Amino acid sequence: KVQPVILCGGAGTRLWPMSRDQHPKQLLSLLGERTLLQATVGRVEPLGALLEVERSPIVVCNEAYRFITAEQLRQAGVPQPTILLEPAGRNTAPALTLAALQVERQAEDALLLVMPADHLIDDSAAFADAVLRAAECAAAGAVLTFGIRPRRAETGYGYLQVERDDGGSGVPLPVLAFVEKPDAPTAERYMEDGSYLWNSGIFLLRASVWLRAMERFAPDILAQCRKAIDAAQADMDFIRVASDVFTACRSESIDYAVMERLSGDAESGIDIAVVPMEAGWSDVGTWDALWEAAPRDDEDNALRGDVLAQDTEGCLVQATHRMVACVGVRDLIVVETADAVLVARRGSGQGLREVVARLKAEG
Ligand code: GDD
Ligand code: MG
Repeated sequence: KVQPVILCGGAGTRLWPMSRDQHPKQLLSLLGERTLLQATVGRVEPLGALLEVERSPIVVCNEAYRFITAEQLRQAGVPQPTILLEPAGRNTAPALTLAALQVERQAEDALLLVMPADHLIDDSAAFADAVLRAAECAAAGAVLTFGIRPRRAETGYGYLQVERDDGGSGVPLPVLAFVEKPDAPTAERYMEDGSYLWNSGIFLLRASVWLRAMERFAPDILAQCRKAIDAAQADMDFIRVASDVFTACRSESIDYAVMERLSGDAESGIDIAVVPMEAGWSDVGTWDALWEAAPRDDEDNALRGDVLAQDTEGCLVQATHRMVACVGVRDLIVVETADAVLVARRGSGQGLREVVARLKAEG
């Protein structure tokens, strides 16, 4: 049985001014009607025709967003989600560990389908197909990842080295090395080399396999999470993990805590494999990525809201509260919200990170 687990705790600061502390990326609708969280839960539906899938996902999120998260899930028609509340974010390794322990408590060893709540996937059918192809290998005890053919030398992703990219037959390939967020020259090299895939951040693995890996590579995090789940309190429809214990937990990602180490450790007995996936995946981490992923008109503009564009090319323009008119401009990002407007050149996503840091520092 497949148990969807949704990691829903990120901030998405590079999508300022749309994403804020009060309104992180996964709770926004960046394209279309549904929010990214709602699109993520919806993505599981086609899979139900192929595999036995638990209809109620486990959603791990920060307690500050519990009501809006629950409301969005309700609107999306999700029956009785299990919502685990973190008092503070401790990155993805503790979040996934909480979910795995929750499954263990129900005396199950389900296959966890771990999905970040803030990605776009165009083709749900192709995604379902990739998960189906991964299922057998994952049931046998491997950690399955989903690989994307790299489109640029991105330093914000994990890279999966494979023997060869077999051109999309969809069969799981053994992963020879997992490298999280390489520096720029290394990412360039991987891009040229051709035997590396991006890690999409989606995983399929047994709950017990994850807990075994944590026992081996991060026993302190596992112990802390176990205490936090054992002392968890039900609060309306939520499960609140024990605040002090969880807050004392070290912060680390799935990728650094486990995946990198696992790929270099023959003795663990746990293999990593990857299913190459062509499903229109984008993590829409930046406005540039959103422009790339968005449907565009003949002038290559992605326009949303009350926007008038004249002699304008290659722009992303979003209006939420006021009308925006553009005349004679190219390659711009313009994002209007109630209290802030961003005007940036496309391709300057890194600079935006600095702006957000400055705004934070200046309060
Ligand atoms: N519940 C919870 N708690 N969720 C979290 C937390 C947390 O403390 N921190 C992050 N998340 C959620 C985010 O909302 C996101 O959906 C997902 O976990 C991944 O976290 P990111 O912080 O976005 O990770 P990343 O983008 O830097 O890197 C990961 O994703 C890349 C692809 O987008 C890695 O898995 C990379 O290897 C991968 O390439
Ligand atoms: Mg991300």
